[in-house]
Amino acid sequence: MDARTAELLGSALSASGPIVFLTGAGVSAESGIPTFRGAEGYWRVGSTNYRAEELATYEAFSRMPEEVWAWYLYRRGVCRAARPNAAHLALVDIERSLEARFLLVTQNVDGLHLRAGSSPERTYQIHGNIDFMRCEDEHPRVRPIPESIPFDWPKAHALGDVERAALRGCARGAWARPHVLFFDESYDEALFRFESTLRAMKEAAALVVVGTSGATTLPAHAVDLAVRRRIPLVVINQDQSPFTEAAGRSPAGHVLLGTAGQHLPPIASFLRGAR
Ligand code: APR
Repeated sequence: MDARTAELLGSALSASGPIVFLTGAGVSAESGIPTFRGAEGYWRVGSTNYRAEELATYEAFSRMPEEVWAWYLYRRGVCRAARPNAAHLALVDIERSLEARFLLVTQNVDGLHLRAGSSPERTYQIHGNIDFMRCEDEHPRVRPIPESIPFDWPKAHALGDVERAALRGCARGAWARPHVLFFDESYDEALFRFESTLRAMKEAAALVVVGTSGATTLPAHAVDLAVRRRIPLVVINQDQSPFTEAAGRSPAGHVLLGTAGQHLPPIASFLRGAR
């Protein structure tokens, strides 16, 4: 790990407040899950090609629930077949070192942080989790997708009667929906920890951003708060992004170009040593 990262993390350790790690699809790329805006982020329905940003919407789900569910069930299978990688494991190690000062805010719906061993209490899944569904009730209960639906869902495979019955379990036979934040929806506290994330960022001693392109609003707020509060901001990414630019502008910012699997393990051993 370079001297600047050590200096920034060292100063965060001697301050108070949470040390927040914000992750995106880049952290799971090394587990073989395609990133959202990479080459595989499209899906064909009939003769139309949709981009993820068009299909992961409440508008698309209301118009063609079966097709959107088939896409989610396929992606859920891809996530389930993937294994946590060195970056996920490093974050588990970091939580062990930082204990109550650790907070993980993830945009990933693949559940790999939890499967690696990050604790549910300190992991905010701000875009949901693809293994779960919920009804559109006033007080929605989040529950696992029923076991009758197989994990190895083939690409472009249509729903059958078993799946239809399992997924139409809401009041008056209404469809349950994937427990994710669609592109045309807003964050909230009850389901996605919106206020808790902002509160943590207002108190944070440092923010470490890993593998995200900076295209969604809550992460953008978090990075903006880090810059305005001049707290240490370390951005790990394979490519340039609005977040690497923000770190370049911030007096306490630093960019580590490269992969999550390359940069997180040395940070984990530094923090273990500092305990
Ligand atoms: N290590 C570090 N960074 C990586 C790696 C890697 N191994 N592989 C890819 N990256 C970087 C890419 O360069 C890109 O900047 O990770 C970023 C992934 O960006 P996106 O695919 O846009 O994913 P993300 O930022 O998580 O998307 C945010 O938008 O699509 C919605 O809700 C969805 O949670 C998602 C959100």
